[in-house]
Amino acid sequence: MLAASCTSQSADDPLSGLTVGERPEPEAPDGWARVTVRAASLNHHDLWSLRGVGLPADRLPMVLGCDAAGVDEDGNEVVVHGVVSQPDWSGDETLDPKRSLLSERYDGTFAETVVVPRRNLVPKPAELSFEQAACLPTAWLTAYRMLFTNAGVSPGDTVLVQGAGGGVSTAAIALGRAAGLVVWVTGRDERRRARALELGAAQVFEPGARLPARVDAVLETVGKATWSHSLKSLRPGGTVVVSGATTGPDPSADLNRLFFLQLKVVGSTMGTRAELAGLLSMLVATGVRPVVDEVLPLAEAHRGFERLEAGDVVGKVVLTP
Ligand SMILES: NC(=O)c1ccc[n+]([C@@H]2O[C@H](COP(=O)([O-])OP(=O)(O)OC[C@H]3O[C@@H](n4cnc5c(N)ncnc54)[C@H](OP(=O)(O)O)[C@@H]3O)[C@@H](O)[C@H]2O)c1
Repeated sequence: MLAASCTSQSADDPLSGLTVGERPEPEAPDGWARVTVRAASLNHHDLWSLRGVGLPADRLPMVLGCDAAGVDEDGNEVVVHGVVSQPDWSGDETLDPKRSLLSERYDGTFAETVVVPRRNLVPKPAELSFEQAACLPTAWLTAYRMLFTNAGVSPGDTVLVQGAGGGVSTAAIALGRAAGLVVWVTGRDERRRARALELGAAQVFEPGARLPARVDAVLETVGKATWSHSLKSLRPGGTVVVSGATTGPDPSADLNRLFFLQLKVVGSTMGTRAELAGLLSMLVATGVRPVVDEVLPLAEAHRGFERLEAGDVVGKVVLTP
């Protein structure tokens, strides 16, 4: 089958390790299901894997891709939950210390077929296309958990989203707006800030700008470049939820500010199968849909990765086998 795999890793030239070519059809162990992939979406995670972050070299070659929508062996349209926990794990899958994300231990979704534990399949609502559904299990699920499980906010509260055009950022803007939050956004260029306004941002700012007021929560995926601004932007007792560090993971902790203003820092990773089902219901109920920047054939995966690496994408790039 055709697949896009990580065959070598380079921090400086990640795309040199991306190979699109034939791979053996996967076997489904007991309790696992074969899914014919109809669409899968790119995430920054795939770039990290090619850079050698989070994917040990001794597991190569590894099919990339964390999320997909497709059809199972019984003909059901499904969305694939990408968090694989141990078979005997119960409860919040993201808290299993031995959990992995598809493409970290088990081959991922940039392929004609993917095999996953059967319990990782969630019914795809008919209202969503395969391309839309394929955007949800990583970026959108992460934004959903950050906002509704970890930020501690209520309708009417103000949330700052750092970054305008990213997969997680666009999801957070659209979901936050649909939930009645006042969403403020920082973005690096005019085009991306304008898109954020279209998606439902109440106000947009240049990175690091002084805000008109302090916010109740900040959603952080950018890391070093925005961390200091995130802490300065919070009201006393506010919460910064962190799920990524695109520009680097080692900012100053600013401990004086942290304790004096009694700020909360909450880590957040992916989401549970139940949260994915909640996200799907929310999209059906509200009419909110993922922002798809471009749909490319799997054979042209390189182009999608180039655009993601260049920071050129607004929303999601989708691959179709
Ligand atoms: N923990 C988890 O479960 C989880 C899940 C999903 C993602 N993540 C992580 O979250 C991060 C974002 O993922 P993604 O898929 O949304 O990535 P993406 O689509 O590539 O988006 C990157 C985002 O970072 C912003 N950005 C990049 N460099 C910046 C800089 N120097 N200053 C300000 N903003 C900058 C961009 O803002 P502009 O639009 O303004 O350029 C954009 O919003 C990645 O590090 C990823 O690994 C973690």
